[in-house]
Amino acid sequence: MSSVPAGRIGSNEDAPAVDAGAPSTAPLARHLLPDSATTDGAGRLSVGGVDIIDLAGEIGTPLFVYDEEHLRSRCREAVAAVGEGVAYATKAFLCKAMARLAVEEGMSLDVSTSGEVETALAAGAPPERLVLHGNNKSDDELAEAFRLGVARVVVDSFDEIRRIEPLGRRRLAEGLAPQPVMIRVTPGVEAHTHEYVMTGQEDSKFGFSIASGAATVAADALAQLPGVELVGLHAHIGSQIFRLDAFDREVAALAPLLDAYGLAELCVGGGLGVAYLNEEQAPSITTWAEHLRLACDAAGVGVGVRVTAEPGRSIVATAGLTCYRVGTIKELPGIRTYVSVDGGMSDNPRPVLYGSGYEAFLPRSTDAPRPFAARIVGKHCESGDVLVADARLPVDLAVGDVLATPVTGAYGFSMASNYNRQARPAVVFVRDGKATVVVRREMTQDLLRLEP
Ligand code: LLP
Repeated sequence: MSSVPAGRIGSNEDAPAVDAGAPSTAPLARHLLPDSATTDGAGRLSVGGVDIIDLAGEIGTPLFVYDEEHLRSRCREAVAAVGEGVAYATKAFLCKAMARLAVEEGMSLDVSTSGEVETALAAGAPPERLVLHGNNKSDDELAEAFRLGVARVVVDSFDEIRRIEPLGRRRLAEGLAPQPVMIRVTPGVEAHTHEYVMTGQEDSKFGFSIASGAATVAADALAQLPGVELVGLHAHIGSQIFRLDAFDREVAALAPLLDAYGLAELCVGGGLGVAYLNEEQAPSITTWAEHLRLACDAAGVGVGVRVTAEPGRSIVATAGLTCYRVGTIKELPGIRTYVSVDGGMSDNPRPVLYGSGYEAFLPRSTDAPRPFAARIVGKHCESGDVLVADARLPVDLAVGDVLATPVTGAYGFSMASNYNRQARPAVVFVRDGKATVVVRREMTQDLLRLEP
């Protein structure tokens, strides 16, 4: 019995142009590759001026490769389009290099655990660029946030309000400025996306419901707390959203509460979808931000209100691709062909978790037609370990080839595991013909380091 509900993230049923039929046998669509991707006459791929097959050979596979300039350009786009306070949702992909890059390009950082906080701080991110989220922040996480004086703490429950009371008092006693907080509200909006990543509906572990009146009770309570300053409202309706009208409904639901409390800040969360498949097209960050601005105008959100957002996937997804090495090709006559690679659900659990679709291609002939149907699987000990259920590949695919899946920059490395004691892959940033290992591959010593 499958526990995965209907709907897929990735090949999203909301995507305007998804062909629900057979996958494309056409060459990989270029809009699924990072901005700096180029091919030589034979179709051999370079990203950031670095030959991808050589890189995979030098550093080993599986390997996450990111186009650094692509990452920077999406951060800059977000800052220009949304404005000050726009935060990169670090859950999509975080390491010190990424945190540093996002901060250098002017973004704040959305963090939701002490691990994300510590990584951001280790990268040199100033506390005043951190926005702390979470439906179950620990005492330590809250105390650290109040001690650091992070930009915003997004308060998610009545238990949390009780927990922050002494922390606010301490700030006051120490003569520190009040800690700015926002209220996470449940706007009662169902975005058209996979059930696992819908977050705006009433039946949710996140936030305070507007409809039930809980959000008002929370606002009243926070307004009373010493050493705490309620500055705004926050909501996040889901992820991999293509239909922007969901954001209209979100803003419309939040506007009256914002107005009633005279709050000057509205964060609409993240959620902008990206194209994973040849036929998909997603709105740009700029289009999304323009849409948000119009939605705010339509809902009567005052011009003095600072409107912010927290894009994750749309910043990093297309900047990244994963390289694998093909280890075995098993043809089952009359059934299908299995192509096994040296990674799998440990470096990309999204197909297994959400039924997400990906394209696959050979970086040695990026532009080749892909008439050969196969299932790309990993090396883990279960049949569910599928990376691309119904892939299309060039006919001359062979054992030893480097095979790549594009658009793996978001929620791949960050959701990677050590299942079967598989070492997590290295992460490389490429730019101007230079490759920098920003996270080295795990080694056996890393896997054993926690055990006496
Ligand atoms: N803000 C909040 C409060 C969030 O919870 C999230 C994502 C974001 C921003 C960023 O959303 P984005 O722009 O990346 O859609 N693992 C799933 C996605 C989970 C999203 C969780 N929250 C996946 O692989 O599709």
